[in-house]
Amino acid sequence: MRRFIVAANWKMHFVLEEALNVARDMAKDIKASVEVIVFPPAVFIHPVFEIFKQTHLKLGAQNIYFEQKGAFTGEISAAMVKSLGCEYVIVGHSERRHIFSESDIEVHKKVKAAIENDLKVVVCVGETLKEREQNKAFDVVERQIVSALDGIDLEKVVVAYEPVWAIGTGVAADVKTITQMHNFIRELVENVPILYGGSVKDSNAFELGNIDNVDGFLVGSASLKSDSFSNIIAAFEKAKGVGSA
Ligand code: 13P
Repeated sequence: MRRFIVAANWKMHFVLEEALNVARDMAKDIKASVEVIVFPPAVFIHPVFEIFKQTHLKLGAQNIYFEQKGAFTGEISAAMVKSLGCEYVIVGHSERRHIFSESDIEVHKKVKAAIENDLKVVVCVGETLKEREQNKAFDVVERQIVSALDGIDLEKVVVAYEPVWAIGTGVAADVKTITQMHNFIRELVENVPILYGGSVKDSNAFELGNIDNVDGFLVGSASLKSDSFSNIIAAFEKAKGVGSA
């Protein structure tokens, strides 16, 4: 049985009251049959947990540090986010890799730390525009996956393909590009859910959800409002023929 997941990555948006309002709207609006995970900024995880605890909405952290504990000012451990009620953590998001210079080695250490603390991991991979233009997209994605998942039990892993050039641009990758890359990733990680991320919105969610090896989405901007996020979930469920939509 394939696992379908639609996830909201709120990135660094909202102050407390705004985050709580969106969380309350989502708790009220979303009645999904697929798995729905929300990744708020770390400081809002606990209050959002309080809102979600009577719902089927799941929680995750956007990042962790790989050390267990100690003198790492400003960092947050896997055990900490687990203790706040997170079931998932995102590791290796392109903004971490490119803005904060996170290496494949650090990504691997974070995946390990997450699994050791009984968290499920959404491992993000994806090439830059330059890498695509140089015909390196498949090599980059393979390198990122192989290195992140070296020796890791895949049971707790989800892969998100997020081409860097499609994130935050309003223009998603096209069906052919996503199909090719998801088929390629499927050969590397057979039973792992493969999400697509990069400008997913309600107007393209049905078309992209129709792609066979797209098992869900990791949504940025369009997850900042409950109505657009709910519409994406409904369109995805319709494309997969699951749920009430
Ligand atoms: P956008 O949906 O805003 O393009 O962001 C995608 C993303 O990076 C999700 O992790």
